[in-house]
Amino acid sequence: MTYPAPVEIPTRDLFNLGGRTVLISGGAGAVGMTVGKAVLESGGDAVFVDMVPSPNEQMWKTIEQISAAQGTKAWYHQLNVTDADSVAPVFDTIRGEIRHPLRGLVACAGISGECDACDYPIDVFRKILDVNITGTFTVTQAVAKEMHRANVTGSIILIASMSGWVTNRGINTAAYNASKSAIHQLGRSLAAEFAHPQNTFPGRTPGDANPNPDGERKAYPPIRVNTLSPGHIETPIAEAAKSRGLVDEWVKQNMLGRISQKEEYRAPVLFLLADGSSYMTGADLRVDGGHCAW
Ligand SMILES: NC(=O)c1ccc[n+]([C@@H]2O[C@H](COP(=O)([O-])OP(=O)(O)OC[C@H]3O[C@@H](n4cnc5c(N)ncnc54)[C@H](O)[C@@H]3O)[C@@H](O)[C@H]2O)c1
Repeated sequence: MTYPAPVEIPTRDLFNLGGRTVLISGGAGAVGMTVGKAVLESGGDAVFVDMVPSPNEQMWKTIEQISAAQGTKAWYHQLNVTDADSVAPVFDTIRGEIRHPLRGLVACAGISGECDACDYPIDVFRKILDVNITGTFTVTQAVAKEMHRANVTGSIILIASMSGWVTNRGINTAAYNASKSAIHQLGRSLAAEFAHPQNTFPGRTPGDANPNPDGERKAYPPIRVNTLSPGHIETPIAEAAKSRGLVDEWVKQNMLGRISQKEEYRAPVLFLLADGSSYMTGADLRVDGGHCAW
């Protein structure tokens, strides 16, 4: 299905998210909460999901105040993105409560870990890949199915990292870096699959991943998929790095001479979610103060 270019949208509405719902995984975290707030302030409803039972009370009060003032709505649900069995029931609940179709995802849920490679416990290595790659895929799959079910277009943002492009200097995070490279490639793969039926060759070959191939594929409205790659962010996690002098090193490694604030990801997220980026898919938006350009 080829969709017409949205050329009639007034310039002032290019970042507007009115009439749609956006799901934010890792929504209780620093970046998730901040970009979720921005969604609510831009006219969208927001569903925050995270593995913690409830978000920080003070932060949620702010979310409620913002949504009340804007006439938007916010919900919170506990969801562990690596627990595939719990995804469907949570999405059943979400489907029953939202008032506008789910047309956006910001997949923020992620973990990091630092260990020298030869000492890296394999179970920890595996867990980082599981949360960051499989967990991102699991929530993306669920959101794409909802968009298909509602027959709507959508925009999916997978939060990657500049660590998917370059290795962090001064800190040994092999599993994290590998997982973020995988997010770039996952984003490109899903972008191709969700954009247009011409992108998939007809038929299916049976195999372990596809034991019961069925007939014709259905055509759905396009879903755009992009990744967003932040540089270093000043979050509570950066505190330990600060005390080791690492942050002083990091500020020398980017062109702006400072690490970023979580609020600096609001505009990139709104741009990718809204119709202003209608011709952008399969791309990575790097927001790293020039770190990777050196
Ligand atoms: N902070 C940085 O410097 C930085 C830099 C580049 C990229 N990123 C990426 O940005 C994203 C958000 O990071 P942040 O700084 O807000 O970190 P954060 O720790 O504040 O937020 C991550 C959230 O993910 C949740 N989470 C973890 N495992 C989960 C699971 N299995 N299921 C559901 N939720 C789970 C956590 O509970 C947490 O609320 C991550 O993907 C991170 O890799 C962060």
